[in-house]
Amino acid sequence: MRSLKLAKNLRDKTVLLRVDFNVPVKNRKVLDDFRIIKALPTIRFLLEKGAKIILITHLGKDGTVSLDPIKKHFFAISKLSKNKITFFDNIRKFSGETKNDEVFAKKLSLFGDIYVNDAFSVSHREHASIVKLPKYLPSFAGFQFEEEVENLSHVFKKTKHPFLFILGGVKFSTKMPLIKKYLKLADQVFIGGALANDFLKAKGYDVGKSLVSDNNYGIRELLKNKKLILPIDFIKKDKIILDIGSESVIKLASLIKKSKLILWNGPLGKYEAGGAEATKKVLKLIAISKAESIIGGGDTIALISAMKMENKFSFISTGGGATLDYLANGTLPGIKALE
Ligand code: 3PG
Repeated sequence: MRSLKLAKNLRDKTVLLRVDFNVPVKNRKVLDDFRIIKALPTIRFLLEKGAKIILITHLGKDGTVSLDPIKKHFFAISKLSKNKITFFDNIRKFSGETKNDEVFAKKLSLFGDIYVNDAFSVSHREHASIVKLPKYLPSFAGFQFEEEVENLSHVFKKTKHPFLFILGGVKFSTKMPLIKKYLKLADQVFIGGALANDFLKAKGYDVGKSLVSDNNYGIRELLKNKKLILPIDFIKKDKIILDIGSESVIKLASLIKKSKLILWNGPLGKYEAGGAEATKKVLKLIAISKAESIIGGGDTIALISAMKMENKFSFISTGGGATLDYLANGTLPGIKALE
């Protein structure tokens, strides 16, 4: 990838800076700003070099949410002046973005002179602002993007074993296809969060009204794999699985103790409904283990910040699905677009 350090003559140029400020927002307040903070070195560098910046981000799936809380939070924490920074509209508001439309990307490129991608966490998406826009402008990778690639690439170049992969959260369509890959790469794959519901259902367990996906992803076949480990007990509320239970945490604790590499993405319980206890316990267990630990995914990061444990892991990735894709495939569409 072309590093931003190689960019020349940025003075008075307008930089289209793709960031991923898709952060948790509740009642118009940003709940966790890890991704925003991580983009600040690139933003400051561009301003120091005399550039003007148009920040491009998505928020939510379909672009219907307003960026106002993000803008407010961004200018408050960065203390940067509004003179040289503006925000483009929520990019997912435009259908050309997710359709990866050529004409849309070309039109977008007319707003700037240079393109910088500092949105590693959305670079697994073949979206116009990630893969098409760099075709029309001189393009560079931002500092956070580079940091992610540097830190994550050494994992698959020299993977330590036993390698424990913990996968939770929701986003079935992003994560389920990756489980097969990780069953090859890792020594144990523990499934928690809503993802586990599909497996438990396939095993004949009554998951009540818990969230399940509408696709079966060949789960029966996966269940035969000895590396696959499922929770063994649960905390339930109103017929919904809220969290994994204490026996499951004990099981995970013994796996953590034996591991030399732990990769974790997505909470183990329904975190937003009060099911964060197991995730917190497991975070503490990993923090005291000697294993190399890589943790990613928006909700897990939010918990780590709330627990003030940012320095307790080898690397905290801004990515969720992007991190998993990158580790499984060694590249991403957004990386190829910058080569
Ligand atoms: C994320 O939160 O993982 C990224 O912002 C990508 O979001 P998406 O899954 O809606 O593409």
